[in-house]
Amino acid sequence: MNKFTSVQDIESLPSLVDQALKFKANQFHPNAYAGKSVGLVFLNPSLRTRLSSLKAARNLGAEAVVLDISKDGWALEFEDGKVMDGNKAEHIKEAAAVMGRYFDVLGIRTFPGLANRDEDYAEELLNAFIKYAGVPVVSLESATRHPLQSLADVVSIKEKWNKTEKPKVVLTWAPHVKALPQAVPNSFVEWMKVADVDLTITHPEGYDLAQEFSEGVNVTYNQQEALKDADFVYVKNWSSYTDYGKILSQNESWRFSMEHLALTNNAKIMHCLPVRRGVVMDDAVLDSPNAIHLDQAENRVYAAQAVFNELLK
Ligand code: CP
Repeated sequence: MNKFTSVQDIESLPSLVDQALKFKANQFHPNAYAGKSVGLVFLNPSLRTRLSSLKAARNLGAEAVVLDISKDGWALEFEDGKVMDGNKAEHIKEAAAVMGRYFDVLGIRTFPGLANRDEDYAEELLNAFIKYAGVPVVSLESATRHPLQSLADVVSIKEKWNKTEKPKVVLTWAPHVKALPQAVPNSFVEWMKVADVDLTITHPEGYDLAQEFSEGVNVTYNQQEALKDADFVYVKNWSSYTDYGKILSQNESWRFSMEHLALTNNAKIMHCLPVRRGVVMDDAVLDSPNAIHLDQAENRVYAAQAVFNELLK
């Protein structure tokens, strides 16, 4: 593995998941990567990704440094050939290359603008970073994917499922007050397609994910039908892909409640966090024993540890 930006970058999902679970059982390897360092660059806010990545690097004995580049760095220019006579003081060519000289692995978080679909889905910022860093790059969530979250999600399902048959996993859209990216649902679907699960996606009309992600997956606009017999339900909002970045519905009947849970096979309920209580999901669900969102968040450490271990080798 020479970068970690999507499920396509890994060699074997079962062995990466096993590695994460081994790290969970035995977290601390203080001498494994002594003298190595990981740089974590954020253009957008984060709680879990920042802290779990820091903890993961330190559990492996590596140094980890966070840079909130939009706050503490120079304003970055990404356009090639640009005469930089505006307010952007540093080009990504120098910024990424310099950071690549300081660190053995670089992580970057860069959200989409949700204004221009082609630009967002071309992943221009992430790809520029990869091009100029000169060291392995980890996506800490990009415009279209959140692979560290998805790996933690696969780990969370694996540790809760001890039957031989495939679990029924449902990704359901839920309302939100803001337009959110498609990165988490895109990524979850992409990883579930490689994992050994039976996946259904349900959302209101107009919220279809890009075909490259949803192709081959059972998709229905009927949430109640989708939830029937579900073993795991991933509750998540996203804005429209077709009417790009728009909120087309705030239909409260999609907010996940105990009535929704009752339709399932006593499902485990998942969310990547942060979650808006009472908007996306009811308190009663999040506070119930079915909710595994805190386990998912904890597993972010071991997912990152497995990935850094591969890239620092
Ligand atoms: N799930 C997740 O990535 O959380 P943060 O945005 O807080 O990092």
